[in-house]
Amino acid sequence: MPEPAFEKRFDHVLITGGAGYVGAVLTPQLLDAGYRVTVLDLCWYGDGVLPEHDNLTLVKGDLRDAETVRDAMQGVDAVLHLACVSNDPSFDLDPTLGKSINLDAFEPLVDAAIAAGVKRFVYASSSSVYGVSDALDVTEDHPLHPLTDYSKFKAQCEPVLLGKASDTFVPVVIRPATVCGYSPRQRLDVIVNILTNHAVSHQKIRVFGGDQLRPNLHINDMADCYETVLEAPDEAVASKTWNVGSTNHPVSEIAQIVKRVVEEAMPGLGEIAIDVEPTDDPRSYHVNSSRIAADLGFTPELTIEDAVRDLCFAFRAGKLPNSMTDPKYFNVKVMQEQPATV
Ligand SMILES: NC(=O)c1ccc[n+]([C@@H]2O[C@H](COP(=O)([O-])OP(=O)(O)OC[C@H]3O[C@@H](n4cnc5c(N)ncnc54)[C@H](O)[C@@H]3O)[C@@H](O)[C@H]2O)c1
Repeated sequence: MPEPAFEKRFDHVLITGGAGYVGAVLTPQLLDAGYRVTVLDLCWYGDGVLPEHDNLTLVKGDLRDAETVRDAMQGVDAVLHLACVSNDPSFDLDPTLGKSINLDAFEPLVDAAIAAGVKRFVYASSSSVYGVSDALDVTEDHPLHPLTDYSKFKAQCEPVLLGKASDTFVPVVIRPATVCGYSPRQRLDVIVNILTNHAVSHQKIRVFGGDQLRPNLHINDMADCYETVLEAPDEAVASKTWNVGSTNHPVSEIAQIVKRVVEEAMPGLGEIAIDVEPTDDPRSYHVNSSRIAADLGFTPELTIEDAVRDLCFAFRAGKLPNSMTDPKYFNVKVMQEQPATV
């Protein structure tokens, strides 16, 4: 990680969803930076992804439970809200569950933060709020056309949070691109990671469509972004909404990158084939992330190549066993095993 642009200004941070894919990278990073961290997470995708640390409190609980939230917020200065049912297929399995977490619980969570004296609240929205757009550059001013309930609820929560801004409560909305790369809580259901898994496991990548543009972001850049937003002064972040992504490649180009990097990093696998198949998923968006660069000086430093290389390293080290079959790597498979509307 580069030298932080700002000074550490808070002591105690609550990360909801801190045991998830992004959280499992962000939490140790903030601990290393000297924060006290409380993680509130149901740990759907497994225990043991977070380090043992004197400054870490793991609350294995549900953010829909008012008492759990109230207790977890005690003494917290800032909240990073990552927890949710975090992709469309998982959401569609049980829309009632998804709505209860992603939308209904949102305002009570923000109100609980305000009541507990939390000073800054950073919300992980999504660049999928824009839906399909032909615009050359989708900036934060682009109209929102969310195509799914997951994206729609992300979009609906943003004004709820921003409407709570005050002299003592600073809300910030981040709209990340699709994240990629290695995490101790690995997801293999996001595009770069899916293609890398198939390349390594089957020496074959299946590309659906290929022309759709997909913005991506390396997971370590994602974590650096949250740390930067946490550390920047109030006046620089108050009520801001920022896109965060690095590169926008067509899916076919992402496949070529994965093929090249896997062939280089794991030469024993031989040649990786690419099969192109039709798709009924039209999402395509070219996300412009220059505003956060201008406002905070934050620019992603890492590439898709880095993410694929990191994943190859993890495969070679045996950190991703049974990567095609273990449900824990695929949110929708784990959600299928949850009791309905828990
Ligand atoms: N990963 C991406 O590509 C991406 C892209 C854009 C936005 N985001 C957003 O970033 C955030 C983090 O994404 P991720 O990939 O780490 O997701 P993830 O699914 O890996 O993690 C979400 C975590 O939230 C927890 N959780 C869910 N419901 C909960 C509840 N009711 N109470 C407590 N914990 C609960 C889960 O146990 C899980 O650990 C999400 O809000 C997601 O929508 C992610």
